[in-house]
Amino acid sequence: MGYVDIHCHVLPGIDDGARDMDETLKMLKIASEQGISDMIVTPHYKQGRVGTPRQAIGEMIEQVGKYAALSGISIRLHPGTEIYYNSSLEEKLESGWLAKMNDSDYVLVEFSPLETFSYIRNAIEDLFGLGCHPILAHVERYQCMLSNVDNVRILHDMGCRIQVNASSIEGVFGFKIKHFIKKLLKERLVDYVGTDAHNCKTRAPEMTKCAEVLRKQCDAAYVDELLFGRAQKELLVMK
Ligand SMILES: [Fe+2]
Repeated sequence: MGYVDIHCHVLPGIDDGARDMDETLKMLKIASEQGISDMIVTPHYKQGRVGTPRQAIGEMIEQVGKYAALSGISIRLHPGTEIYYNSSLEEKLESGWLAKMNDSDYVLVEFSPLETFSYIRNAIEDLFGLGCHPILAHVERYQCMLSNVDNVRILHDMGCRIQVNASSIEGVFGFKIKHFIKKLLKERLVDYVGTDAHNCKTRAPEMTKCAEVLRKQCDAAYVDELLFGRAQKELLVMK
């Protein structure tokens, strides 16, 4: 088994990710060459703005799979969504309209980068209350986390999973973010790594460089857990 990318926008033409099937296939080829064997596709959902129902995501995965096979690309795709939190998600989650992570109880959730910590904490509690297990997308993007690692610890202690983007680990977004992630890794507050890929150039599905950086900072068992182990255990194995 290769790396598992739990956060990417590779489905064609449904959000600000891959524009069309051609770009989707180019992204999948890159991902495969980077050692990724499984991707949970996470198109954006934002109430009143953008969103794709679970059923349509499944149909697209099937279609993309056929094209990928014809192009000789071997990669497994699984359904998911990156949910921009609002307080009225109940109906869409309970009816199954929104795709959870590979149809598990886990949901990938994001907020405005400037959102307050108390709002995020309450939202995480709300999601647990709805029977979901939240994964906070790209924790390094929120000011309230960057300015206080204790806030990440509080969410982690609540059972919220923490996801970091591979490019941030590499240092693409500068020293401050790289240093913040280093602190999180030291305290084992990171649970998942995702590429958050949107295209095949500036935001490509790359994992190799990030894996090299992680291997310098963490022990081998933790690196394996971050790059595939936890995903395999929590998201890819159906209970
Ligand atoms: Fe994303």
